[in-house]
Amino acid sequence: MSPEVFEKIVALCKRRGFVYPSSEIYGGLSGFWDFGPLGTELKNNLKAAWWGRVVHRREDVVGLDSAIIYNRKVWEASGHTKNFSDPLVECKKCHQRQKSEVRSQELTCPSCGGGEFTEPKMFNLMFKTHVGSTEGEEGLAYLRPETAQGIFINFENIVNTTRLKLPFGIAQIGKAFRNEITTGNFIFRSREFEQAELEWFCLPKEADKWFKYWQRERIAWYGELGMKKENLKFREHEDKERAHYAVTAFDIEYRFPWGWGELEGIANRSDYDLRAHGLKYRDEETGEELVPFVIEPSVGIERSAFAFLLDAYEEVRDQRSEVRVVLKLHPKLAPYKVAVFPLIANKPELVKQARKIYSALATRNSLLPVAWDERGNIGKRYYSQDEIGTPWCVTIDYQTLEDNTVTVRDRDTTKQERVAVGELPSYFLENLS
Ligand code: GAP
Repeated sequence: MSPEVFEKIVALCKRRGFVYPSSEIYGGLSGFWDFGPLGTELKNNLKAAWWGRVVHRREDVVGLDSAIIYNRKVWEASGHTKNFSDPLVECKKCHQRQKSEVRSQELTCPSCGGGEFTEPKMFNLMFKTHVGSTEGEEGLAYLRPETAQGIFINFENIVNTTRLKLPFGIAQIGKAFRNEITTGNFIFRSREFEQAELEWFCLPKEADKWFKYWQRERIAWYGELGMKKENLKFREHEDKERAHYAVTAFDIEYRFPWGWGELEGIANRSDYDLRAHGLKYRDEETGEELVPFVIEPSVGIERSAFAFLLDAYEEVRDQRSEVRVVLKLHPKLAPYKVAVFPLIANKPELVKQARKIYSALATRNSLLPVAWDERGNIGKRYYSQDEIGTPWCVTIDYQTLEDNTVTVRDRDTTKQERVAVGELPSYFLENLS
């Protein structure tokens, strides 16, 4: 993937309303992003696709939506207050601070090009806040840097209310915050983001088996949503880069324009967290007590949205040899599934019929977000929808008025076929699954 694709995607995201820099009118705030109308739909679709496969399609996984701020004792017990840190170095020439990457030995200052740095100091990445009216140590709390701890501290509640038996999983999607020393590469590394995490509790002796199972399962999810196989690979963590709680960790890496990078982490957290919180599991039938092991697949929603956007980006030449963009997003991820147009905008009879079809599709079916467009010529409308990934465009023409059929144009093949208006919902819904 050429590095220019990166710039093109960033520009497209801003221009079409996927992602805006946060607080832009005040000069922005590094590491924070706002998701526009199309970005919001894309993120929601991604979360639904993750929840669908990880929770809804299974009987052994349940969901949770915990608070973001926990009693700070949670972070003391989990080891985050002590260990959730990155090594920070300062350039001796310009005093710019940056993360000293564990995997790279050589550093150059991105600000002045200097090569001399102070000794690394550990910098804790958790954002601090205060609960209640006390500003001092008493009210100190943290914005969670991972959603996982919300799951661990509710382990007993969930076991008691659901009677789940090992092995089982608890899933959560929600905001996480990290005061990253350096942000960058667009939404790849931000300070506020969403995580989709599954904590899979199993017998310690079965942990390796389940680790491999979740590796296969997670890769299959990307495949199901159309991500190209050649852009994905596993990489095992070296000892020194593993998080403090992990005994084994693999990343699913994506081939980003700047090289391979972490897309999702899969860790064997052993019994570290449950032990840290003094929690255990009791088998109702045998009465046996044990501390389960935990296998954890964890992915950032914005980071995966970015990877799906990059993966879907294609430039094609139109009949006049001009380059245009087609975002070949899987229909499940596309912000709009369908766009409806009258062939000619100044013919009231066509507009009236098109509006009728648009309303029938849009209002009767929440699974089918529909766009309306009557600006410019039909070719421009197709290209505009291609650029945001809309899989199908429906055009209402004079034949529609006679036989109640419309043309449906496919984004990827650009082929058009005539479909009866009454069959449209099932035509799209079948292709969505
Ligand atoms: N609970 C385990 C955990 O948090 P992690 O590897 O630190 O593990 C999991 O994070 C995933 O969260 C990453 O693979 C990435 O997709 C996403 N992520 C982590 N830090 C991020 C950041 N600063 N900005 C965006 N996404 C991030």
